[in-house]
Amino acid sequence: MTLAPNMHSKPLAWWKKATAYQIYPRSFYDTNQDGIGDINGIIAKLDYLADLGIDLIWICPFYASPNDDNGYDISDYQAIHPDFGTLEDVDELISAAHKRGIRIIMDLVINHTSDEHPWFIESRDNKNSPKRDWYIWRDGCEPTAEKPTCDPNNWESIFHGSAWEYDKKTAQYYLHLFSKKQPDLNWENPEVKQALFKMIYWWLERGIDGFRVDAISHIQKQPGLPSLPNPKGEKYVSSFDYHMNVAGIEKHLHELKEQAFDPFNIVTVGEANGVTADNALLWVAEATEHDQGGVFNMIFQFEHMKLWSEEQSNVPLDLVEFKRILSRWQDALEGKGWNALYLENHDQARSIDTFADPTSRYASATALASCYFLMKGTPFIYQGQEIGMVNHQFTSLDEFNDVSARNLIQKLSQQGQSDADILALLNQVSRDHSRLPMQWNAQDFAGFSEVQPWFSVNQQYADINVEQQQKDPNSILSFYKQLIALRKSNVSLVVGRYQLLLPNDPNIYAYQRVAQDMTWTIITNLSPQESIVDIDRMQLGELMLDNQNINNEHVRSDFIATQIAPPYAAYIFARKH
Ligand code: GLC
Ligand code: CA
Repeated sequence: MTLAPNMHSKPLAWWKKATAYQIYPRSFYDTNQDGIGDINGIIAKLDYLADLGIDLIWICPFYASPNDDNGYDISDYQAIHPDFGTLEDVDELISAAHKRGIRIIMDLVINHTSDEHPWFIESRDNKNSPKRDWYIWRDGCEPTAEKPTCDPNNWESIFHGSAWEYDKKTAQYYLHLFSKKQPDLNWENPEVKQALFKMIYWWLERGIDGFRVDAISHIQKQPGLPSLPNPKGEKYVSSFDYHMNVAGIEKHLHELKEQAFDPFNIVTVGEANGVTADNALLWVAEATEHDQGGVFNMIFQFEHMKLWSEEQSNVPLDLVEFKRILSRWQDALEGKGWNALYLENHDQARSIDTFADPTSRYASATALASCYFLMKGTPFIYQGQEIGMVNHQFTSLDEFNDVSARNLIQKLSQQGQSDADILALLNQVSRDHSRLPMQWNAQDFAGFSEVQPWFSVNQQYADINVEQQQKDPNSILSFYKQLIALRKSNVSLVVGRYQLLLPNDPNIYAYQRVAQDMTWTIITNLSPQESIVDIDRMQLGELMLDNQNINNEHVRSDFIATQIAPPYAAYIFARKH
């Protein structure tokens, strides 16, 4: 067997073996009874995470922020929002995690700041401010009743409405790809980069283990900021083509890597909307003797997810397409880079509702888990996914918290859509579904807090919670634990090459992980129909784990004899060579 010289000769990086867990701190666990999750709440649950088998935690922003986008609008990178605690609490969290062998990565939000950040306040003050050019200011004219839009161009914000905000004080507009309280930093200005790199150093010297790098594919804008073609004559035009993974971004990314990341031995995961399997290597190739490689250790790609989607998602999953996308990523990075594997995060509705069937919750959750978790890459679990948390049923439009949902409601109402239609849409796609409090037990407020939490609690918490699932060997939580343990104790599940089986089967996602001494076969039925699995049974070997529970009792699977997979069945086989 020939080994790719760039990878297998090196010892396996710790983060390749790791299982990662994402925390949305506002909704994880409240220890001081103000209804808001806090840093001490993360510390309090470290034993839970260690017991689950987690090695790496990514925590969403807990910096000072006016909370327009729940912390993704930062007003001081080096201060902690008092809702969450203090810097000392963060130091304590880092050391308490490290004691348990768990590493911590933080969210690095450097495409934009809050409009309340001192840099922006200074920038906004006057046209000759030394920080004027730290943000993106352009001329336009003052909006009036006759001429309501005279923005510098026709770009639509990712959070709906114009991407420009008029600022009376200096009679210019500033660019904000996200909310108007998130002005974009100007990455063409070297001072901006130096200020950001200095801040990154400060955090790394505090002992954190790396970063998830927010919205980083948006830092380069189309030079000249031209308007988009507008054949439909829309007010604003979806502008991703002119600010997402735009040519020229590489130079900024390499500076970030060389000047801020390389001096430290850390792990980095870029959020890379718009990066496709074809250009992935620019982002995540491992360095070789001849090539400096990419920028991040891994990226979150979005090709298999609908990010910022406004479309009704009640069309069933196109499994053949889903397999094609994920397999392209697996193949493109084989021996050259590393995947970050995920189905959920704080920007997505819950995966059971999006990809499977919430009426068969156990089977759906465990089949989805088996399917994505054992692909080649580092698996990420989003808080609550490990207990099969599902979407909330919102009953009125004022219940939504997310700034992007609120802007969408305004936009669709103006376009004449009924409240009922907008509610139905958001009940499927809203980011708020994943931001409800974590469900720890069946007590009031799901054991998240003793007081009314900052946000609604999912109606189903009495049936879906950690405490109950810890007691039950056939729970979703127990299944996740087994999956994590299986991957931890079998390096072949970390290094084995991915090979898709049955590419055109519309119901079955089956693949192998082929290593030197072992071949794993993972078979999942991701459909509500019973399906025959057309795989040579001699290839399978021993059944290591399956999700065949009936009335909460594990039943012996007769899959090998029948090769019939019930709806949302999952089987994991291993064969020694
Ligand atoms: C990223 C974050 C999202 C945030 C946005 C703006 O996509 O994941 O939650 O709203 O960036 O910072
Ligand atoms: Ca609190």
